[in-house]
Amino acid sequence: MRDHFSIPSERLELRCEDVYELDVSALGTFDVVLCLGLVYHLENPVGAIRVARALTSGLCVIESQLTRQTEVIVHGNGQSGQFEEQPASFAALLETDQESNMLASSGGVVSFIPNRAALGIAVEAAGFTKLEWASPTATHNQQYVLGDRAVLCAWPQ
Ligand SMILES: C[S@@+](CC[C@H](N)C(=O)[O-])C[C@H]1O[C@@H](n2cnc3c(N)ncnc32)[C@H](O)[C@@H]1O
Repeated sequence: MRDHFSIPSERLELRCEDVYELDVSALGTFDVVLCLGLVYHLENPVGAIRVARALTSGLCVIESQLTRQTEVIVHGNGQSGQFEEQPASFAALLETDQESNMLASSGGVVSFIPNRAALGIAVEAAGFTKLEWASPTATHNQQYVLGDRAVLCAWPQ
């Protein structure tokens, strides 16, 4: 992209790093942070969103696969016979295709794929206060149209 658009290297620096190894305080903050196709490949998606929040001074765009789970998940909570219902949930996927699929996660990772509610509360918990789900149109990829993926715009304030 840099070469194609003849952008000087001092204006566009490219790095390849593990999201959990980033030195956030050294990097500083950015007007726009793009977190595309990443969180659902991670064992700690909420931690990665916290990293994105720390880097964001303006807008953060988070794009993710979503599960189709809309029913609450019922779970016990310390007392026999007492249960809670959670609308937010993650599906666990052991990533095994990293050798053949460069878009997968690193080997043996258990990825946590959020449903829409889980991505929303994770983004709020990370410290974003304004959230806006991008609305797909009929011409967009069917995954967005059907709700299997989504784009969430988030602002710190
Ligand atoms: C589905 S691809 C998305 C690639 C690109 N962002 C896009 O939207 O086309 C998922 C990417 O997440 C990367 N990834 C997985 N675990 C990561 C981690 N801990 N830190 C940084 N990137 C990671 C993988 O290397 C892979 O390139």
